[in-house]
Amino acid sequence: MLNKIKKIKKDFFLLKINSLSELEILKKKYLGKKGILNFFFKEIKFIENSELEKKKIGFYLNSLKKDIEIYIKKYKQIFLKKKKKIKKKDYFTDFTKPGNKKDLGSRHPISIIENRIINIFNKIGFKICEGPEIENDWYNFTALNFPYNHPAREMQDTFFLKKSNKLLRTHTSSVQIRYMEKNTPPIRVISPGRVYRNEKISSNSHYLFHQIEGFYLDKKVSFKDLKNTINFFIKNFFGKSITRFRPSYFPFTEPSAELDILWNNKWLEILGCGMIDPIVLNNININSEIYSGFAFGIGIERITLMIYNLNDIRDFFENDLRFLKQFKQEF
Ligand code: PHE
Repeated sequence: MLNKIKKIKKDFFLLKINSLSELEILKKKYLGKKGILNFFFKEIKFIENSELEKKKIGFYLNSLKKDIEIYIKKYKQIFLKKKKKIKKKDYFTDFTKPGNKKDLGSRHPISIIENRIINIFNKIGFKICEGPEIENDWYNFTALNFPYNHPAREMQDTFFLKKSNKLLRTHTSSVQIRYMEKNTPPIRVISPGRVYRNEKISSNSHYLFHQIEGFYLDKKVSFKDLKNTINFFIKNFFGKSITRFRPSYFPFTEPSAELDILWNNKWLEILGCGMIDPIVLNNININSEIYSGFAFGIGIERITLMIYNLNDIRDFFENDLRFLKQFKQEF
């Protein structure tokens, strides 16, 4: 019998009580005249030949009864308080009062442009994937075919973390490797994020900036696909505009190009791109005889400066509300 009562005790204190009415029901069920505890109190009489056992169980039941009473009382108070609060609130809500307008803030111009770019690529099936900002040499450099003596690895360009072999990624291309290592083609991904380079802060350079990486890996992907994709983006983002692909060099693409756009009579560099170098694919055990791909990296700051006719990259990072509030209409 004692074990049965113990189980009832445990079950009771594990119960979830959600409302005052539930509490009342439980009170009746456990403490009521025909309740569970009274049932056991009556049973005690029938225990034969053991006064000690009777006493023990009686004692146990009595203390359980007290515990349950206190517990129920406590919860009753909690529920009543809640109820009062809700009532008070209802009473004081004046729906004719002007709204409690909070200053919602505004999206950062970098986010606005980033989202626009992402939306365009989403339309043609590019998924978003993000990678870590603290990287290691493999993802940031080695897998991407940077030779060991490449200047970008040196202290003046890369922030290396003290006492570890980690670094702050210098570009979002590291995500190409991370994603392709884990997924099988066809792969169509864009990856936005912060990147860091040890550069002097000036009106047009900063140690922190944003890129959007894009890459596409499948059978028979060609340079024509790259051009079509980039042109689709440019047309959707800038409308009709004059662009040029200029041959360039990146360790991880071959051939490589940079895309310039004619803006206020000046050629402005918007992105770097190219066909993913087979060496890179081989580095991550993707058969470059079967698969080919392209990649591109868009600098977001540059485009944001262009679109909003701004001239100082530092404004993006200074959090001056007078600057940031200008972009409110975009929220
Ligand atoms: N990662 C290059 C940079 O930061 C840009 C790039 C990305 C070039 C992808 C080609 C392909 O300059």
